[in-house]
Amino acid sequence: MKSIEINSPYDMHLHLRDNDMLKLVAPLSSKSFSGAIVMPNLVPPVDTKEAVISYKNRILDAIEADDNFTPFMTLFFKPYTKEFLEDIKDEITAIKLYPAGITTNSEGGVESIDTVALAPTLNAMAELNIPLCVHGETNGFVMDREKEFMSVYEALAIAFPKLKIIMEHITTKDAVELLKKYDNLYATITLHHLLITLDDVAGGMLQPHLFCKPIAKTPIDRDALLEIALSGNPKVMFGSDSAPHPQEAKESCGCAAGVFTAPIALQVLAQIFDENGKLDNLEAFVSTNASKIYNLKPSSKSITLIQKEFLVPTAYENNGLKVIPMFSGQIIKWSTE
Ligand code: DOR
Ligand code: ZN
Repeated sequence: MKSIEINSPYDMHLHLRDNDMLKLVAPLSSKSFSGAIVMPNLVPPVDTKEAVISYKNRILDAIEADDNFTPFMTLFFKPYTKEFLEDIKDEITAIKLYPAGITTNSEGGVESIDTVALAPTLNAMAELNIPLCVHGETNGFVMDREKEFMSVYEALAIAFPKLKIIMEHITTKDAVELLKKYDNLYATITLHHLLITLDDVAGGMLQPHLFCKPIAKTPIDRDALLEIALSGNPKVMFGSDSAPHPQEAKESCGCAAGVFTAPIALQVLAQIFDENGKLDNLEAFVSTNASKIYNLKPSSKSITLIQKEFLVPTAYENNGLKVIPMFSGQIIKWSTE
């Protein structure tokens, strides 16, 4: 039976939420991953040192200590002073910038990404070596939002050449091309954007569990993402953007955005890389690229993925809270040992 051992798999973009949801989903990531960049879009957002520390402790309380999992904490971007950033630096791995109102719980985000107005914060981040993670969408037509944001990424990359800028969950060929143009641009790619297009979301009966921001795009875009991910290109990392919502918030009038992939992500990635004859590049995509970009200390954890069928549970459930994973009730071709 075919198998592969991956050292230190990282999920470089993860939503763990809080309270009962945190307790339900965090163990599903900590079991197989060595660590994850944890998004700060709670209500209220994680925007103080106290909030970062207490959220980290709640995450650690929600998982098994011997899972050997590191939550890499992020701060919700606001125009912070250098003194504030110096003080919080050791508690965070990155700062996440959301344009105001662009997605779930982003109302407190940035109204306008002006490189002059934001310069004091972004220069301080560059000096302190704190990467900037960006949700790169405008408020334009839904299929064009990421493409329209390219000029913002470009302005940031040029104005702040020493700042590491992570283009989060890229979904377009335009983003793949821009990424290659500037040394200080990097990107995360999700599992679902490697697999689906808008057709899978809305081409037949509407699939609420595949609805997310940014929305899945065209086959040309999907293929461009696949090509760069499979190539092992050192500028791209796996970031699941696994974003759980209660079943009733997804299967309702006014569906919340987010695909829940954490429990099956590594297995399905192994399947994709294997089917494309690129299993040898999987470790770059899910581990070594991230370690180099973020200067992460290597962890001793490894996971073995095997080519053995696995029936994905229809739901993950605890205390009446129910979340539906991608591939719910379906058979995937790879599993964890
Ligand atoms: O689909 C999404 N869900 N995209 C995001 O950017 C946020 C996320 C969430 O927090 O639910
Ligand atoms: Zn996200």
